[in-house]
Amino acid sequence: MARAIAHTNIALVKYWGKRDAALNLPATGSLSLTLDGFYTDTTVTLGGETDRLTLDGTAASDAETARVSRYLDLVRDLAGRTERAQIESENHVPTAAGLASSASGFCALALAASSAYGLDLDPRALSVLARRGSGSAARSVFGGFVRMDKGVRDDGEDCAASPIATPAGFDLCLLVVRCATGRKKVGSTVGMNSTEQTSPYFPAWVETHDADMRAAEAAIAARDLDALGATMEHSTLKMHASALAAQPGLWYFRPVTLAVMDAVRALREEGVTAYFTMDAGPHVKVLCRAEDGEGIADRLSQIEGTRGVSVCRPGPAARLVDG
Ligand code: DP6
Repeated sequence: MARAIAHTNIALVKYWGKRDAALNLPATGSLSLTLDGFYTDTTVTLGGETDRLTLDGTAASDAETARVSRYLDLVRDLAGRTERAQIESENHVPTAAGLASSASGFCALALAASSAYGLDLDPRALSVLARRGSGSAARSVFGGFVRMDKGVRDDGEDCAASPIATPAGFDLCLLVVRCATGRKKVGSTVGMNSTEQTSPYFPAWVETHDADMRAAEAAIAARDLDALGATMEHSTLKMHASALAAQPGLWYFRPVTLAVMDAVRALREEGVTAYFTMDAGPHVKVLCRAEDGEGIADRLSQIEGTRGVSVCRPGPAARLVDG
């Protein structure tokens, strides 16, 4: 038996599109910040006739169990083992936030399962394994700022995440502004596949991506929040623009999403440093200085239609828990 905790992460420079679906290799790199606030706690216990999965104490659907079971087959292959397992997974996110994340989920599963089956993977190998479950999960292996390389090898062994050192005094926080409740309609895998197959803007998204990676890394090294924020907004807007031009067009924004984006720009006009990013859902994440977090959260939570704001700080690497 093994138990692991992995924190979720938010991409500042996005991953959107795959160069190989079977191995889940991304078409682009990405750069993220792991968060302290949201995490998944997963226990894997070997034994039983079949794989069984409970999510937050409730038996998972057949489809969810089948996906996790296929994933465990990868781990069993690596370990040369055949036992089935019981998987208990708990998501620690604000209730009804619709933020349950495949990033923390598959990272915690990769770590707990690899350990339960007797594998002792180094962080890089763990990142490669987590990526097979979900691209964003590869980044949750590490704390703080993380870069994910798209790699060039067909076998994906050079497609892993690695940590980026945070320079002293670069003290940031990320606000999660909830803009809806319930599940999103189009998941990220389906959304990115449709964009890749049908959007004339997808090639431009891929071609301009490396420049954003370089700009974001340089901004972190220089402790330049304005440069990092501007690159982050450019990346998310390009990702969403490419999805908007898919056939049929795809957008994740709700009216309140746009209201929050407007409010962030208005804050900047007032001289408050704040920048937005959105993933495959309606919520807005806002990057700002740590000391400004509570004040900006207060202000954004007054926008009609928002459903609460969480103030997150950089979070730790994934870890095994005793017992
Ligand atoms: C918009 O990692 O959920 O959040 O690899 O298909 O499981 P799969 O996709 P996933 O996609 C994340 C997309 C994103 C941007 C990002 O996190 O980089």
